Formats: sequence, structure tokens, C-alpha cells
Amino acid sequence: MKKIIAILSLTLASSSLAFAKQDPVLAHGKKLHNERCTKCHTDEVYTRKDRQVKTLRALSNQVNNCMKGAAKAQWTPSETNSVIEYLNTNYYKF
Ligand code: HEC
Repeated sequence: MKKIIAILSLTLASSSLAFAKQDPVLAHGKKLHNERCTKCHTDEVYTRKDRQVKTLRALSNQVNNCMKGAAKAQWTPSETNSVIEYLNTNYYKF
């Protein structure tokens, strides 16, 4: 039993380390995204078979277009990047 607990806490410790490394940017991106980007489409547009975005550059362009045009969000370049990173890490994986 003790051994199991030891292994478990080791696993938890190492995964939370990896998590802590990425978390601030991704969490920020997720928050911004959920505030401004879910009115017209759900996240299904990012995973559908015939999705339009095929490269990281296209993802960046699309996020910028949707952000400035459709969502009328006034994000700084770093906020925009955190949303791009959030979408890429969770959906597109370029
Ligand atoms: C006013 C409506 C609207 C809002 C708000 C909006 N979008 Fe979009 N978005 C669209 C439409 C319309 C499409 C094209 C969908 C289609 O082709 O079926 C699209 C497509 C996309 C795609 C491409 C999906 C693919 O095919 O790969 C991405 C990425 C995207 N939006 C990101 C965002 C982000 C990030 C935000 C927030 C800043 C956002 N959208 C807010 C209307 C909107």
C-alpha cells in the first residue's frame, strides 16, 4: 500500500511539473477563447473532417481574422498567441 502511494505521488508530482510549465499560457488562452470565441461555433469546427485550417500559419491567420472581425476582441499579440497555442495544443497539433 505504501509503495502504491509513493508511486502515485511521484506520478502526480511529475505530471503537475509538466503541467505547471505550460499552464499559464494555455490557461490564459483557454479563458480568452471561452470568453470571446464560442458564440458562433463550438470547438467542433477545429476537429471536423473538412476543417479549413491546415497549417500553423493558417491557424494564426484565422484566429487573427476571427478575433478582429467576428469576435471584435482587442487582444494584444501575446494574448492572441496564447489562444493560438491553446487551439494548437488541444485541437490542431501542428
Ligand atoms: C461572429 C461569429 C464568429 C465568432 C465570434 C468567432 N468565429 Fe471563428 N469562425 C466563424 C465562421 C463563420 C467560421 C467558418 C466556419 C465554416 O467554414 O463553417 C469560423 C472558423 C474558425 C476557425 C477555422 C476552423 C477550421 O475550419 O479549421 C477557427 C480556428 C476559428 N474560427 C477561431 C475563432 C476564434 C479563435 C475566435 C475568437 C477570437 C472565433 N473564431 C470567433 C465565425 C466566428
